[in-house]
Formats: sequence, structure tokens, C-alpha cells
Amino acid sequence: MTGKQYKTLWITKTDTGIVEQAITDRPIADLPDGELLVRVHYSSLNYKDMISATGRPGVTRNYPHQPGIDAAGIVEESLHPDFSPGDEVIVCGYDLGMNTAGGLGQYIRVPAGWAVPMPSGLTAREAMIYGTAGFTAALCIEKLLQMGAHPESGDVAVTGATGGVGTFAIALLAKLGFSVAAVTGKIENATHLHALGAHQIVDRNVLLEQKRPIEKPRFAHGIDSLGGDYLANLLKLIDYSGSVAACGLASSFDLHTTVLPFILRNVNLLGVDCVEQPIERKAMNWQKLGSDWKLDNLEDMVEEIGLEQVPDCLDRMARGQVVGRYLVSLDR
Ligand SMILES: NC(=O)c1ccc[n+]([C@@H]2O[C@H](COP(=O)([O-])OP(=O)(O)OC[C@H]3O[C@@H](n4cnc5c(N)ncnc54)[C@H](OP(=O)(O)O)[C@@H]3O)[C@@H](O)[C@H]2O)c1
Repeated sequence: MTGKQYKTLWITKTDTGIVEQAITDRPIADLPDGELLVRVHYSSLNYKDMISATGRPGVTRNYPHQPGIDAAGIVEESLHPDFSPGDEVIVCGYDLGMNTAGGLGQYIRVPAGWAVPMPSGLTAREAMIYGTAGFTAALCIEKLLQMGAHPESGDVAVTGATGGVGTFAIALLAKLGFSVAAVTGKIENATHLHALGAHQIVDRNVLLEQKRPIEKPRFAHGIDSLGGDYLANLLKLIDYSGSVAACGLASSFDLHTTVLPFILRNVNLLGVDCVEQPIERKAMNWQKLGSDWKLDNLEDMVEEIGLEQVPDCLDRMARGQVVGRYLVSLDR
């Protein structure tokens, strides 16, 4: 192999479905075409990275593959007039880390239309502490606010509370003055969830116990990253004119519900996707995360790891054992 090489997580999958994760050197010349060559300094670990890196269906079709749906770094080469070498950028979503080489490698090459200039209030490290999880939590909250949610409306339930999206949903809602009910399967992490800003902790099994088509209202609004029966039952517990932002499927992509929450309680079910948002909208939300909504305790919200630790951490994620988020440094 000739030319400059870089270090990356590299996933291979055999015809018989055996998946292997390795840290390896790859030539920059082998990266896909694109207008920007970016030296990645920080990435993070997301649920989707785990799906991609373990060869499960739904995220990555073609292997071998360099995963990583999050990247922040510095433009090294640009074929686009809007960017110059030395510019700091955030690249998240679109096809990054799905079937395009992603941020769990020291270099990516991407279309200029995927890159957000780093907001003045954020460093690359801070941007990746938020990562897709924080960005998605912000989108969920934005949708709730658009539907009229305000701190006086009552408790906001956040499911998957100890996960990436859940963690940031709790912290951002608390910063904005909302009272948060953290719904979790890891009740032993109550102290951690209170420290993030949750006012009450709810065992997620409570959601599964709601057997009637509609139940006594318990929450004003919700942010759900689980899907399945958790989401279906959360809808039964939402108060009149409340909204639930649904962004995930950590439990299931099914949703078996009735129309009762919608036609009796005026409840709104709001879809949230961070991947294909127009780039201008992404830039606006990143700006917000670096200014009005910026969290004071970002460093407390992650554990920093290097590439070598990524396979172990993805394995813990696959087993639902992770609390909070991993920030991945590509410089270690
Ligand atoms: N729509 C979008 O654009 C978007 C963006 C980002 C993420 N997502 C999706 O949102 C979901 C969460 O992402 P994440 O990065 O926060 O993942 P994560 O860090 O792995 O957290 C998921 C959390 O969900 C709970 N959980 C996990 N497996 C579960 C199961 N089988 N049944 C019930 N609860 C379970 C756990 O929280 P507790 O133990 O506290 O209950 C876990 O910490 C994923 O489905 C992801 O694909 C979507």
C-alpha cells in the first residue's frame, strides 16, 4: 500500500455473517470521493454505531466498513468554495458511518453539504460530547416547544433515560426549566439521573403495566427513544393536549396503539429524525447547543476513550450496560 495512512476501526463481515472489529491502518486514497477531506479529532459512540459495527441489519449494507455517525475535526483539503483548509467542522448524519466511511477513523471524505461550520460557542470536543445524541435530544425538545410545551405544563417523561439521547434530553429540559421524569430500566442509577436534572425516577416496567386503552394522565409530555410497548403505553399516560417526540427504537420498531390518546386527549405524536435534516437546520441547532442551550457540565456527561477501547464499549452498548456516553478521541 502506498500513500498516507490513517488509523480506523474497520469492520469486516464474511459471506457466512461472521463479523470482526479491528483497529487498522488504511490509505487515505481509499476513502470515497467527496469535496472535503477532514482530519477527525473527536467522534462519539451511538446506538447506530453499535448496529453498524456488529453487522446487524438496518444501518450498513456494505462491508468492509469504517463506522461512526459522528465526526468533528479540521478540513485538510477542500474542493468547495465555502470551506478552506483549517476550518473546523461538524459532520453528522446523512450517510456518514452508514455506507460512507465514518468518524471512527482519523480521516473522512464527505460532500461539503454534509458539513456544519463549528459554531463559535463550541469546540470539536464539546460538539462530540453532544454528538448525535445531544443533537437529537435538542430536536425533540424543539418539537415539543413548537407544540406549545412550557415548564408549567407538568412533568416531561424521558424514556431510555440513562442512554445517550435520554441523558441529554434530561439535562437540556432541566436547563430550560422543565420538571423531568426519567424513565429507566437501571433504577440503581437514580443518583446519576437526579444529578442530570431529573425530578423523579420511574421504573420503565411501570410503563408496561398500563393495560387499559387509556390511563389516568401522569405526564404533560414525553421524549421516547424506545418505541414498542413503552411508547404505546406512554401515549396512554399523556395529559390533555400533550405531545410525545418519538425518536428511537431501542426496544422495538413496532407500535401497537389505539386512537384513544389522540381523539380523547388531543395528544400529538411527533416524529423526529436527525439524519436527513436540511443542513441549514442542523447548523441552527448546533448553534443553539453552543449558545442559549449550552450545558455547563458537558465534561461530566461523557467518558473519553480511544479507538482501541471502542470494540469493548460497543459490546457493552449492545448488552444495554452503558450509562451516559462515550466520547472518542482520534488523537490518542
Ligand atoms: N431519530 C433519530 O434521528 C435518532 C437519533 C439518535 C438516536 N436514535 C435512536 O434512539 C434510540 C436511543 O439511542 P441512544 O444513542 O440514546 O442509545 P443508547 O445510548 O444505547 O441508549 C438506549 C437506552 O434505552 C434503554 N434500552 C436499551 N435497550 C432497551 C430495551 N431492549 N428495552 C427497553 N429499554 C432499552 C436503556 O436505557 P435505560 O436502561 O435507562 O432504560 C439504554 O440506555 C436508538 O434506537 C437510536 O437508534 C434516533
